Amino acid sequence: MEIKAERKVAYFIAIIFFFIGVICYAAFPIKKPEEPIRIMLTSTAGNVLFDHKEHASEDGYGIECLECHHTMEEGDTPEACGECHEAEEEDGILKKSDAFHGKCKICHEDEGSGPLKCAECHAM
Ligand code: HEC
Ligand code: HEC
Ligand code: HEC
Ligand code: HEC
Repeated sequence: MEIKAERKVAYFIAIIFFFIGVICYAAFPIKKPEEPIRIMLTSTAGNVLFDHKEHASEDGYGIECLECHHTMEEGDTPEACGECHEAEEEDGILKKSDAFHGKCKICHEDEGSGPLKCAECHAM
């Protein structure tokens, strides 16, 4: 008799914890987007090895995602630049190589560090 009652309480508590778990999971999803480590950007001018992790991580250069992925929404996984920036300029959207050169070189220039010479990036 007594044991049965205790079991009921135990089940009841278990069910409560289960629902708390479900609610917390739904309310605070852990949505850390996946990040690449190194990307080989291929081009006819020579390939560019881009150290994504070094640029984006706190221990590295600590640059915000949005600084480069300028159209991404908070918490979203960003798309490749080429999804919008095509081989040739279209509707005033920079062509892919100008988008990369714009983004990469302007920051290196402003920061006074990072490669600016063609062969320093197009090294592969
Ligand atoms: C200094 C610039 C820069 C920063 C900062 C940066 N990224 Fe990137 N990321 C890139 C470039 C360039 C690519 C390659 C895009 C391409 O292939 O067109 C890329 C690619 C990606 C991709 C793969 C996209 C695909 O579909 O190919 C993901 C995912 C991504 N980045 C996530 C992040 C997240 C999350 C952050 C912030 C923590 C971040 N990035 C910060 C420049 C940057
Ligand atoms: C979802 C579409 C989309 C994606 C993905 C995208 N862009 Fe853009 N980008 C645009 C549009 C539209 C413009 C022109 C309007 C503006 O300035 O926002 C633009 C403008 C730019 C400009 C010129 C204006 C400025 O901000 O100085 C640069 C440089 C640029 N993009 C680089 C990149 C790079 C590098 C990536 C990838 C890391 C990227 N873009 C990804 C749509 C996109
Ligand atoms: C918002 C600033 C910023 C942007 C955008 C940026 N970089 Fe850099 N980059 C840096 C800084 C800071 C360094 C570090 C220079 C140093 O400490 O020697 C660096 C260094 C580098 C280096 C040499 C060292 C290494 O980490 O490999 C390469 C290659 C490079 N960047 C490529 C790129 C390319 C390609 C892009 C565009 C897709 C890009 N960077 C965009 C800030 C930036
Ligand atoms: C900060 C790094 C960086 C520097 C410096 C740089 N580039 Fe680039 N370049 C890139 C990246 C990244 C791409 C885009 C690759 C892609 O489309 O995925 C690119 C693309 C190109 C393309 C387009 C090739 C194609 O297949 O469409 C040409 C041409 C080019 N670069 C020439 C140059 C020349 C010439 C210089 C020197 C005046 C130079 N680049 C300096 C990073 C750099």
